[in-house]
Amino acid sequence: MKTITSIKNQKGKTPLTVITAYDALFASLFDTKVDMLLVGDSLNMSFHAKPDTLSASMDIMLYHTQAVCAGAKDTFILVDMPFGTYTDPKMALHNASRIYTETAAHAVKIEGTIDRAPVIEALTKNSIAVMGHIGLMPQFVRSEGGYKIRGKTESDILALIDDAKAFEAAGAFSLLVEGVVEDAARRITEAVSIPTIGIGAGKYTDGQVLVWSDMLGFFQAFQPKFVKRYLNGAQLVQEALDTYIKEVQERSFPNIEHTYTK
Ligand code: KIV
Repeated sequence: MKTITSIKNQKGKTPLTVITAYDALFASLFDTKVDMLLVGDSLNMSFHAKPDTLSASMDIMLYHTQAVCAGAKDTFILVDMPFGTYTDPKMALHNASRIYTETAAHAVKIEGTIDRAPVIEALTKNSIAVMGHIGLMPQFVRSEGGYKIRGKTESDILALIDDAKAFEAAGAFSLLVEGVVEDAARRITEAVSIPTIGIGAGKYTDGQVLVWSDMLGFFQAFQPKFVKRYLNGAQLVQEALDTYIKEVQERSFPNIEHTYTK
């Protein structure tokens, strides 16, 4: 299993692999395969069918994290701090401590810009491992009026590099870089000595993350440009269901193989 030290040591080497997980069953399928599992607040959309991540609460995140930890005992598990639970260092420490005391997760993830560095410092100084999340930040979708790709201008690239350096100085062990132009993500990656994990940030980051239900083709409402579907999950499920319904209706299931006769 990865540790904070081995994750940091992988900077610039074989890219780190990360996917999200929300429940014990799928977490057990992913266990020991990827370097990290992320209990992302994206579960609010892909699991709970909400329009954005903002209404995910501490209780929801704790519930899903406990399930993921039960299913994946040999993988490094990272948890999103939900919106509104880390607005100041004291509140962040209280809520992040709940993640450590009520689950077996290894680290938390926090979205933000340079202003959020004191929150990260409060956590890391109290032995809570933090991944910073910069670039496009889904928790800002309402205040910013949409999801906007970052790093298109030199001034924005410099601002992102400032965010990244401030988070590193505050003790973050890694950075998630979302929705950033590839060359900007490359410059952010070169500017820090901790690994960067990209999503929609091109190929020059130190690792990649995808939402499991996107990459396995279960979430079909829309397909962002950065998502590659490695399986057509929804189609496979629907075909299997059609076969089950047909077999029940024509009485070919259950057959002798699936029946107790004595
Ligand atoms: O919540 C989430 O799933 C994320 C993605 C960027 C991976 O943070």
